[in-house]
Amino acid sequence: MVTAVLGLQWGDEGKGKIVDLLAKKAAYAVRFHGGNNAGHTVVIGKQKLFFHLIPSGICQKKTIAVIANGVILDLAVLIEEINILKKAGVTLKNKLVISPRCHLILPYHKAMDLAYENARGKKKLGTTGRGIGPAYADKVSYNGIRVYELLDWKLFEEQFLFQLQIKNPILKTFGVSPINAKEELKKLIKYREIVIPYVKETYGLLHQALQKKQKIIMEGAHGTMLDTDWSPYPYSTGSNTVTGAINSGAGLPVKSISRVVGIVKAFTSRVGGGPLPTELTNQLGDQIREKGHEFGTTTGRPRRIGWLDLEAVKFAVAINSVNQIALTKLDILTSLAKIKICTGYKLKNKPLSYPACGYSELEKLTPVYKEFDGWKEDISGLRQYRQLPKNCRQYIEFIESYLKTPIKIVSVGAERTANIFR
Ligand code: IMP
Repeated sequence: MVTAVLGLQWGDEGKGKIVDLLAKKAAYAVRFHGGNNAGHTVVIGKQKLFFHLIPSGICQKKTIAVIANGVILDLAVLIEEINILKKAGVTLKNKLVISPRCHLILPYHKAMDLAYENARGKKKLGTTGRGIGPAYADKVSYNGIRVYELLDWKLFEEQFLFQLQIKNPILKTFGVSPINAKEELKKLIKYREIVIPYVKETYGLLHQALQKKQKIIMEGAHGTMLDTDWSPYPYSTGSNTVTGAINSGAGLPVKSISRVVGIVKAFTSRVGGGPLPTELTNQLGDQIREKGHEFGTTTGRPRRIGWLDLEAVKFAVAINSVNQIALTKLDILTSLAKIKICTGYKLKNKPLSYPACGYSELEKLTPVYKEFDGWKEDISGLRQYRQLPKNCRQYIEFIESYLKTPIKIVSVGAERTANIFR
């Protein structure tokens, strides 16, 4: 049984916690796209663990973490996470498998990411600066270097030096210092030794798990509104973030995906530039950001905050074939007198759907809101649905009926156990 866990907004919906929960009985937890631009947090007791690359399902005793072919790897970040996990007492032997097909994020990718952003000046996209776009661009232009090449140092060295011949003149045009081949190769040869023991083709492993009817959790990163094709491009990330990416990014057949859990945060957040129709640029937005600790796990940047945008989420539910929803961070809305939900868009008084919008429409449109009365009671200690205040239940039930999809989990706090199951 394959369960996909996908963010249905602009990322940072709280996927890490839900994956950790669902991975309990899973044999495998798999990342299938993106790189260390993602940031997942799992809270275990007093310990807060942050992951950018390694599937957060690794925190479960028996779950094997798989970094499948669709992921792009920054070796330095990977090694840092391996070390953090070792320190936290998580055994990694036979617990982490990395596909040799993963493309590498190399120093020139990060330099180019920053150079492109600087060149855009005021119109910069607000990328995470982790080299994501340039690394995926190299992949599709046949200039990428994979973990596969890293296995044969001579081959790797040859390809790396060839890429530097192309990349360094580009960096110079941007006024950025060129990459020092000798220095970087010295680091990379060390990283290689640490990483190689975890490298193994992941296709066979996952198909074997299917045959044995073992549980597999696919850990989506970012969110549908950042998908390369379905976001308001170019305010996107470099990978496809929708269900279909599981097929290309991990080699699992589409028909094997039996459950798609969509993660929806009770409000909206976004890091980086681009349109955000329901954005709250006032004190209320600041208040929600502070209370919800809405600062990037990857970059520490303050996240932009907005009301829940169901017009966008409705599209995400449809494109991903979501069959159930986990609603997160509901406790953050406690004590607001009024809460709004966006139920549609209007442009020049005409209704407009999310997929009909490019970034310029999204920037100009007016959201249509439905207003709800808030609740004052602290809900973070509650574990039964019926214990929730009536106004809170009304908020949940409206989302459910609007999306025509059951909300099975309501998360009411950061702690692993702060959940209401329905
Ligand atoms: P990139 O993925 O670093 O190229 O950044 C492109 C856009 O996606 C920027 O607006 C980032 O802030 C955003 N982004 C990428 N990954 C995440 C994520 O995991 N959560 C939230 N935003 C993200």
